[in-house]
Amino acid sequence: MGRERGRVATGGGKKGRRWRVIALLAGSAATGAVLWRRRGDDPERPRWYALVYQAVYLLGLRIWDRARPLPDLVEFIEGESAPAPGRALDLGCGTGTDSVYLAGRGWEVTGVDMVPRALALARRRAAAAGVSPRFLRGDVTRLRELGVGEGYTLLLDFGCFHTLPPDRREAYVRGVSEVAAPGATFLLFGFARPPRLAPMRAGVTGEEVRERFAEGWELVDAAPTSVDGIELAGRPADRLFDLWRFRLRRLPA
Ligand SMILES: C[S@@+](CC[C@H](N)C(=O)[O-])C[C@H]1O[C@@H](n2cnc3c(N)ncnc32)[C@H](O)[C@@H]1O
Repeated sequence: MGRERGRVATGGGKKGRRWRVIALLAGSAATGAVLWRRRGDDPERPRWYALVYQAVYLLGLRIWDRARPLPDLVEFIEGESAPAPGRALDLGCGTGTDSVYLAGRGWEVTGVDMVPRALALARRRAAAAGVSPRFLRGDVTRLRELGVGEGYTLLLDFGCFHTLPPDRREAYVRGVSEVAAPGATFLLFGFARPPRLAPMRAGVTGEEVRERFAEGWELVDAAPTSVDGIELAGRPADRLFDLWRFRLRRLPA
């Protein structure tokens, strides 16, 4: 598969990109300093990582964007034991590549993301493909408040859970457990070796997945995986940061 990029062109060439990276780092440092002063136990307080995502979309630095759906997802959806289309929830759907793919395969899709710009791009992508997944703006750690509904037979998370602050991960697991149908499959992707300079925590290990999903879920398999088209400084991010795929199954109540 070629290293085709899904990004909408942002222009400016290498020099423009360098300035956008500098702007992102400077902005992150400034907001980090402000939020550090306002830290506390209130779960509603603004989160540094959320502002970083907003800035990344604003500056067009979303390196994770892909033109093609995840190979592991395609294999699951179109492979030998392909499931019948049902309800799919794309957690942290970004610009909607996977949501649009699933909708095109007959799935009833809901994509959730907290960044309006990501959702605007996702809606544009869906319109171009002639499909209409439901895109909701909100926090994946507050699914009940968002009213996403329930009975999802497929849940997908590429790169969202692994940047959640540790104190929001339990709420995330509670939320997905509530909306997953018995027997549902959850495909969860994340970096095992987080970027050292990331302005937010980015990582998930098999041990953590096993612990957090111990109740009501079975970890069917966990394997290193790869995905084309995501690069950092010319190096494939999957190898750089050790991308893993976890496949979980929701157990009947
Ligand atoms: C690495 S990107 C991956 C996007 C998309 N899944 C893809 O593969 O192209 C992670 C996405 O998760 C979203 N995100 C992170 N934390 C979130 C949260 N708490 N609630 C909703 N969206 C979140 C970000 O805005 C971003 O679009």
